[in-house]
Amino acid sequence: MTTQGAILALDQGTTSTRAILFRPPALEPLAVAQEEFPQHYPAPGWVEHDAEDLWRTALSTLRGALAKAGLAAGAVAALGIANQRETVVIWDRATGRPIHNAIVWQDRRTARACAELRRGGHAGAVAASTGLLIDPYFSATKIAWLLDHVEGARAAAEAGRLAFGTVDSFLLWRLTGGRVHATDATNAARTLLYDIHAGRWDPAMLDLFRVPAALLPEVRDCATEFGHTEPGLLGAAIPIRGIAGDQQAATIGQACFTPGMVKSTYGTGCFALLNTGAEPVRSGHRLLTTIAYQFHGRRAYALEGAIFVAGAAVQWLRDGLGLIRAAAESGELAARSEAARRLYMVPAFVGLGAPHWDAEARGAVFGLTRDSGPADFARAALESIGYQTRDLIEAMHADWAASQTAPGEIPVLRVDGGLAASDWTMQFLADVLDAPVDRPAVQETTALGAAYLAGLQSGLCPEPEGFAAGWRLERRFTPDMPARARAAAYAGWKDAVRRTLSSPG
Ligand code: G3P
Repeated sequence: MTTQGAILALDQGTTSTRAILFRPPALEPLAVAQEEFPQHYPAPGWVEHDAEDLWRTALSTLRGALAKAGLAAGAVAALGIANQRETVVIWDRATGRPIHNAIVWQDRRTARACAELRRGGHAGAVAASTGLLIDPYFSATKIAWLLDHVEGARAAAEAGRLAFGTVDSFLLWRLTGGRVHATDATNAARTLLYDIHAGRWDPAMLDLFRVPAALLPEVRDCATEFGHTEPGLLGAAIPIRGIAGDQQAATIGQACFTPGMVKSTYGTGCFALLNTGAEPVRSGHRLLTTIAYQFHGRRAYALEGAIFVAGAAVQWLRDGLGLIRAAAESGELAARSEAARRLYMVPAFVGLGAPHWDAEARGAVFGLTRDSGPADFARAALESIGYQTRDLIEAMHADWAASQTAPGEIPVLRVDGGLAASDWTMQFLADVLDAPVDRPAVQETTALGAAYLAGLQSGLCPEPEGFAAGWRLERRFTPDMPARARAAAYAGWKDAVRRTLSSPG
């Protein structure tokens, strides 16, 4: 392991793009640049990004981080990329131009196509190969939609003139001047087209979802050689040596390398991943089986639970109800709610994700009385984040326990993302889980994970065990709620969810 050279990490997310420069081997953050970009909602339930915005903000934040640190690109040893997953870009191989806006993971336009495939009895084969459910969330039906709706696209795709990629792949293509069309195993695992056991694109899935093989990128390890940036873009040819989907990058950044470790990231939504090691675990509770990371051709798997609304519930308090001016005020307001008064908010604004997967459910508030007020709404919104996490963690624990001969308890939950900064929310999370919640010193875990991949491949960062030993705690939240109060509160939540489902059980 050598000791010089900075590492650049690009974190291309759903609402903003960030670039962070880290100093190896411990990966202390040196400089950050961030830019938001427009969201496009062309029809109800549709969400698009202009892929040129993703490219523009990638380039400007990479340049911005270098400028802030006063560093020339020549001093950067390597670049790692983490990205919003599942989002689909299709571009022309000759011009590099996208044929349409990117269709974002949140987009529900293919809900009917998915329902038809489920009715056709394909769910079992899809889950067996890809570990996923047939849901518009994933890439495959979005790709088919583009090929069917952009004039000439299907014929051009079949003739090999178009390329598909998740956002990592598109940015890699642009950064390498169109030389490299590749992705990593974690991103491939989110497309519904990748056999996560064999580690290859699955011809049966390509047939089922009507996706021509000629569109697809080559799939590589997470830490490997992905080519070099075009020298003109950043001022030097920087080797690109790491790629992972953002939730997997956060799992790596949280050093969850040991089977049984679990992390939960609180952004717009919330994504919890439990490392299950070399063996994939099939969920009996509608969680996803996915690839956590792939090093030297060896895959580690994860169970994943996705909640679509976490931080978005706080945004709604701010923008929808006008109860707070800034998200950071939500904990303070919630703390003013009287303990005896409890509202339940089920934030099914865009349906419910795991473990319910109910696209038709819509949000609801239960328990309103004449004296319900802003503080009760704030508390209900923040508590919904804790309850939803408990739903996921209980499902994970059950799946994990069923797969083990001697299952232990789910250990500590490592948290990150914007909402992890809310002490009130994290304390409630520990209370409702009845388990410790650990917040790390470096909370930019997604970028950290991408930087680690690039640093590992460059020989600048230690192997996973060494990196895990360097993980630092900022604060541990320990449960502090009487068992009866916890049981009563959670039972109330279960009842609220049951009443919110589109076909109540
Ligand atoms: O699966 C979607 C996820 O990768 C999006 O993450 O952080 O961009 O909201 P984020």
